[in-house]
Amino acid sequence: MDGKTIAKRESWASRIGFILAAAGSAIGLGNIWKFPYLAGQGGGAAFVFVYLLAVAFIGLTVMLAEFAIGRAAGLDAIGSFKKLAPRTFWWVTGAFGVLAAFMILSFYGVVGGWSIAYIFKMLFGSLANLSGEEYSNIFVNFITGTTEPILWQLVFMGLTIGIVVAGIQGGIEKWNKILMPAIFVIILLLIIRGITLEGAMAGIEFYLKPDFSKIDGSVILAALGQAFFSLSLGMGTMITYASYFSKEDNLVSSALTVVGLDTLAAFLAGFAIFPAVFATGLAPDAGPGLVFITLPGVFDRMPLGTLFGVAFFILLTFAALTSAISILECVVAFVKDQWGWTRRNAAFIIGGIITLVGMVCSLSMGVWSGFTVPFPAHGNLNFFDLMDVISSKVLLTGGALLICLFIGFYWKVENAISELSNDNKLSFSWLPVWGFVVKYIAPITILFVILNGFGIIG
Ligand code: PHE
Repeated sequence: MDGKTIAKRESWASRIGFILAAAGSAIGLGNIWKFPYLAGQGGGAAFVFVYLLAVAFIGLTVMLAEFAIGRAAGLDAIGSFKKLAPRTFWWVTGAFGVLAAFMILSFYGVVGGWSIAYIFKMLFGSLANLSGEEYSNIFVNFITGTTEPILWQLVFMGLTIGIVVAGIQGGIEKWNKILMPAIFVIILLLIIRGITLEGAMAGIEFYLKPDFSKIDGSVILAALGQAFFSLSLGMGTMITYASYFSKEDNLVSSALTVVGLDTLAAFLAGFAIFPAVFATGLAPDAGPGLVFITLPGVFDRMPLGTLFGVAFFILLTFAALTSAISILECVVAFVKDQWGWTRRNAAFIIGGIITLVGMVCSLSMGVWSGFTVPFPAHGNLNFFDLMDVISSKVLLTGGALLICLFIGFYWKVENAISELSNDNKLSFSWLPVWGFVVKYIAPITILFVILNGFGIIG
């Protein structure tokens, strides 16, 4: 890294561009695919309630921490720690993140590919008039296949790489400005369709009426883990995005907006899904298959279902794409800032390697499913699940823990607060409370989540 690279560093063209890009990163498969099924299994509104607490206390805290670090240093996830903590090992925090990004994008790209494939399967009628079991067979046969899922993964990764190559303003900002509004419009459209179906009330009731008997330690910890994943935290994505942010802009209100939009998207996704699931007489607790197995059946049974089904999978694809570009950017910014590569080379080469690892993930669902590795509390995992578990249960939470400890015990809360308040030009009376949470409460809570991930508690 030399002076020249820093001087020429890109930046967001506008504050709204930054907010949409950060919200685009946050709103992804985690919101549209995972949140509704976790809520479906965790007692509907009871899970939503616990999730909101996790987001408000721990999620927002870590997001502010990442924003402060990224903008103060103005570098990638690893470079930021090297700059703020020279000659120490704190850069390992960023290394956790870059490694997590690499692993998450490998399997994320595979699911992104499934999502594009389902747009076409809906469109060309291969998901019409089937029994519940047939929907399940179609999905399982598709994802365990060899060439088909890989071809779709290539399409998805090609789009991701193409946008990142085009840079911050010309690629990431531009596309988020188009795709993010589209995401909200489609969700609203689906909600209107869902709640106007006969029998939709039961779904709304399920979603909004809490069943607190379902809440136990493991549901609370699942909600916390989901908050990190959904808000794109612990990985340095938000450090990277904040590093392109101007010194004058307001980090705190941006963080509140991003957290608010992400939570709104997750909540609305449930609203788009559950009323329709109940109205068509299907089960809400299908788990990971909810989106790819239950929903095609739901669309098949509703008037104009093909149209809404296509819209849903376009929504899922857009949401996955805006997240995938942020994950790739996290790694690309690192090789660009630290090794001096051009953006173009970084995006093509790193994106290409991640795509290759993703192919292994895809094949591990099918022909290579015999190869498994035991992981504490998770049994034997294929390569796909291994990437998921190591990255989201170990690296993201470990990264978030280190980020909090870095601020609390090395960089110091006062410095972070002066970054967040633009050197006290903005005043937020609650920032000292944030300081206390980031130093003590968040690390202890995150430690519980990590221990739970290893099956030690919960
Ligand atoms: N937040 C994204 C989602 O909800 C996933 C993600 C995780 C993106 C970590 C970036 C970093 O799908």
